[in-house]
Amino acid sequence: MTNDVITETNKMHMSTDKIVEQSDLYSQKGGTVRTPDQNPLPVRVTARDVKVFYGQKQALYDVSIDIPERSVTAFIGPSGCGKSTFLRCLNRMNDTIEGCRVEGQIKLDGGDIYDPQLDVVELRARVGMVFQKPNPFPKSIFENVAYGPRIHGLAKNKTDLEEIVVSSLQKASLYEEVKDRLHEAGTGLSGGQQQRLCIARAIAVSPEVILMDEPCSALDPIATAKIEELIDELRQNFTIVIVTHSMQQAARVSQRTAFFHLGVLVEEGPTDVIFTSPGEKRTQDYITGRFG
Ligand SMILES: Nc1ncnc2c1ncn2[C@@H]1O[C@H](COP(=O)(O)OP(=O)(O)OP(=O)(O)O)[C@@H](O)[C@H]1O
Ligand SMILES: [Mg+2]
Repeated sequence: MTNDVITETNKMHMSTDKIVEQSDLYSQKGGTVRTPDQNPLPVRVTARDVKVFYGQKQALYDVSIDIPERSVTAFIGPSGCGKSTFLRCLNRMNDTIEGCRVEGQIKLDGGDIYDPQLDVVELRARVGMVFQKPNPFPKSIFENVAYGPRIHGLAKNKTDLEEIVVSSLQKASLYEEVKDRLHEAGTGLSGGQQQRLCIARAIAVSPEVILMDEPCSALDPIATAKIEELIDELRQNFTIVIVTHSMQQAARVSQRTAFFHLGVLVEEGPTDVIFTSPGEKRTQDYITGRFG
């Protein structure tokens, strides 16, 4: 799509009466091809010109994106294109990797998350993460979920803590399966249950954003379907970013999709646009399985 077409799309979009403040991204020249939403939701996270280096090697080049609240944004692209690297920028998990350097700006609700004054532990409670491989702590199911609220002082007393644990397990669609064995080891659950336990653990500290890096890749189709259903429910209350290698999954669960290639954000827009009429040949080639 050319910039002219983007401008046209924008004009159409501007003519509707329900307008959320227009993102500066759509007036930017060159770089990423962008298609705005017809009814845009308020933006929760903004990234501008994000570059990431591992030592001398640059892994991401000037990534700029807005992530709207209460929706699912999918990151897709071939292996090694930088999806996980960018996801980790959003809660400063790259800080934990030696030799990794992040440049540019990322804001959560208008506040700079790379501000040196910022408490990173608190940031990671606001921006939770679920990993590819379920990684429950070697503790009971109850303790896995209670851990975060306890260290962040979110419960006034024992009853309060129990309520948080139960409601988090319910929101993660796991409670009915584990209510009679809350004090058994979390690692004794099936893979799909462990992943829902990790989602319950992330939810327990009331995050604003949940990052998921290929959360279903270790799961069978039934467990995957459950997690996808859960993601769809969670978006009513949370802002979700998911990395996936499955085009079907991106199409099923996300409202916006961002396509990365060789460290560059090639294109982003509403998921149906990306999958039916992408503006870039590289996006088209990837989604039709021509490379990757
Ligand atoms: N800890 C690290 N140290 C050095 N280089 C890294 C590190 N992590 C990632 N990279 C490099 O950064 C680039 C992007 O990697 P990243 O893991 O973000 O890709 P990805 O899109 O998530 O890939 P995949 O789909 O295989 O998970 C790759 O070239 C990779 O080799
Ligand atoms: Mg990855």
